[in-house]
Amino acid sequence: MKQKILDILSNNNDYISGEKISELLNISRTAVWKHIKSLKNAGYEIVSVTNRGYKLVSSPDILNADLIKSGLKTDFIAQNVVYYDETDSTNTQAKLHSDMPDGTLFISEVQTVGKGRRGRSWSSPKGSGIWMSFLLKPSLLPSDVAQITLIAGLAVCRALGNNAKIKWPNDIVIGSKKVCGILTEMSAEINCVNYVVCGIGINVNTVSFDEELSEKATSLFIETGMHHKRVPIVRKIAEEFEPLYKEFLESGMKNIIPAYRSECITIGREVSVIYQNKTINGKAIGIDNDGSLVVETADTTIIVSSGEVSVRGIYGYV
Ligand code: BTN
Repeated sequence: MKQKILDILSNNNDYISGEKISELLNISRTAVWKHIKSLKNAGYEIVSVTNRGYKLVSSPDILNADLIKSGLKTDFIAQNVVYYDETDSTNTQAKLHSDMPDGTLFISEVQTVGKGRRGRSWSSPKGSGIWMSFLLKPSLLPSDVAQITLIAGLAVCRALGNNAKIKWPNDIVIGSKKVCGILTEMSAEINCVNYVVCGIGINVNTVSFDEELSEKATSLFIETGMHHKRVPIVRKIAEEFEPLYKEFLESGMKNIIPAYRSECITIGREVSVIYQNKTINGKAIGIDNDGSLVVETADTTIIVSSGEVSVRGIYGYV
């Protein structure tokens, strides 16, 4: 019932009377008043004015499955949400619950064993970031799964807005520092995929990083000087991701790559590619139609696919 009252208040820019709410929900005005009181206790700022009613002024920055799903403009992405106050890793949980529906979102306030790429750990402190994973069940060849990471990167980049760019293949950076990382894992047979877990970690309201990380990590708060509510970002990512993902499943990457290229800052930079334990230095000159990076070295041109590879700028992280 509280959620229904919240929906009514959120969809109303002006005051709405207690009487009107009680009619809409078929409950007494005293019940409305009690629910409003408990919403206020949970951190919602609701003003009440005699003869006018109630108005929602602001919501607390809590991650809540209903807030994520309510009115979400997707068909299946994040239509089912599994929320944890605390968990080891949302990727691990998604894998453990791979029987859940396609598109299920696993999200946690804090991760105790957050995982990064290349076996690294991923710092996931309480309340200050978005730690989430999509469970996906595509009909794809295992070799095409890495491209889902590119799509997720583009979706996050669009959701975060103007200053966010993609460092190929899938780090999202602002300026020269990383604000988001993506870890895609899968369960597959030789030529069929059982499921894919696409994990996304975003530093949202992190105030500072320890010395080692601060050289290359940033947060939305550090970049803008403002706190950001996490639920609208999660919703925007789901809404950006779904059409890209559908397009990819229908027609491959060809219609997505031009948009990806225009957000990717790696093109034109001197890069160092660590590929199968070898370091190759060269200039990134483009991204081909399936999302691979084209690197010109002193004596040849190599095509680096977005699977297990690490790219760093020769003159810094980007
Ligand atoms: C990277 O190394 O850049 C990838 C980081 C991915 C972190 C996210 S946070 C949500 C999900 N759960 C994890 O344990 N990892 C991913």
